Amino acid sequence: MQDNLEALRYVKGNLQLLDQRLLPHQFKYIDASTVSNCWTAIREMQVRGAPAIALAAVLSLATELWNRKSEFHSLHKTLEFIESNLRYLETSRPTAVNLFDATAKMRVQIQLEINELKTNSKSEENSIQKIISKFIDSAETMLKNDASDNKSIGKFGAEFILNNSNQNKLKILTHCNTGSLATAAYGTALGIIRSLHEMNKLERAFCTETRPYNQGARLTAFELVYEKIPGTLITDSMAAFLMQTKGIDAVVVGADRVVANGDTANKIGTYALAIAANYHKIPFIVAAPTTTIDLTKETGNEIHIEERPPDELTYLNGTRIAAEGIGVWNPSFDVTPAHLISAIITEKKIITKNALAKVFNLKLEC
Ligand code: MRU
Repeated sequence: MQDNLEALRYVKGNLQLLDQRLLPHQFKYIDASTVSNCWTAIREMQVRGAPAIALAAVLSLATELWNRKSEFHSLHKTLEFIESNLRYLETSRPTAVNLFDATAKMRVQIQLEINELKTNSKSEENSIQKIISKFIDSAETMLKNDASDNKSIGKFGAEFILNNSNQNKLKILTHCNTGSLATAAYGTALGIIRSLHEMNKLERAFCTETRPYNQGARLTAFELVYEKIPGTLITDSMAAFLMQTKGIDAVVVGADRVVANGDTANKIGTYALAIAANYHKIPFIVAAPTTTIDLTKETGNEIHIEERPPDELTYLNGTRIAAEGIGVWNPSFDVTPAHLISAIITEKKIITKNALAKVFNLKLEC
C-alpha cells in the first residue's frame, strides 16, 4: 500500500490507473498508456469520477503521442490523429462535462500552436513535434491544476460550512465518491470533509453506500479509513432518518455537470438527498471545479443522463438477487434543481443560494 491514494499515476510516456473495480480488496494499477486502453477503463469504470475521467482521457492521448512521436511525418495526419482520438474518448461516458471541457481545451491549445506555427514555421517535422509537445504540456498542466483547484474547493467549502454553523465540530453527509480516487488528488466534496478534518472541525463523515454501483461503500469508506477520518457508512435509504435523528450539519456532494441556471447532475440519489436536506433545513452544498460548469446548457433538462446495464441492479457480487424477467431502469445520475442547492463551491468562488436565485434566468458567472 502506498502513502497517497492516487487514481492516476502519470510520468511522461506512462499512465497507470488504479483499478477502482477491485477496491477495497485489491490495490492494482492497470496500464492506460494508449487511448484504446483508457477508453475501456473509463467505460468499464476502472477509473471514474468526473475530473479523473477527463484527466485520464487527455493524459492517455498525451502518453500515446509521446511514445509514438517518431511515427508522425505529416502535420495534417498528426492533427487528424489527435482529433479522431479526442472524438473517440468523448464517446466513453456522456454525463460528466469535465471530459468534454478537457477535450475542448486541448483543441484550443492545438489551434493556438497552429497559429503560432503559421507565423513562425520552420520544417514540417519541427511543427509536428511542437504540436505534440503542446498537447502533452497542456494535459500535464490540467493534472497539476486539478490537484490545486481541489485544495481551494476544500478550503472555501470548509470555511463556508463553518461560517454558517454554530457547532464547533460538524457532522457531514456525503454521497458517491468525490475524493482522491475521483480526481487528481484531494477530492472535491470529500476534499471539503478532508479540509474540515485537517482543521480539527469534523466530528464525523457519513457516507451513503451509493447503490447500485456502491462507490460510497467501496471507495469513500475506503478513503475515509485510509485517511483516518472518522466515518460511518449508511445505506442510501437511511439518509432521511439520519438527518432527522443525528444532527447532520451539512450535506456535501460533487457534480458531473452544473448548467447555466445552477441545476446540477450528480450520482443517482443526489436529488433525493437534496429534497430530504431541504425538508430538514440542512445546507445542501455542491462542490465542483469550474471544469464541471457547462454554460452551453440552460437547464438540467438538457443534460444527457447515462443509463447503465441492468446487471448492476439484478446482481450483487456476481450473484443474481432479482427475479429473472423483471424490468430494470438504471439511470446513473439525476438532476438536482438549483433551488434546492444552498451553495456551489468552486475553486474560484462560492455561488450562494441568493446568487443562484439571481442568475436563475441568467448565466452562471464563473
Ligand atoms: O459514475 P461515477 O462514479 O463516475 O460518478 C461519480 C459522481 O457522480 C461524482 O459525484 C462526480 O463525478 C464528482 S467526482 C469529484
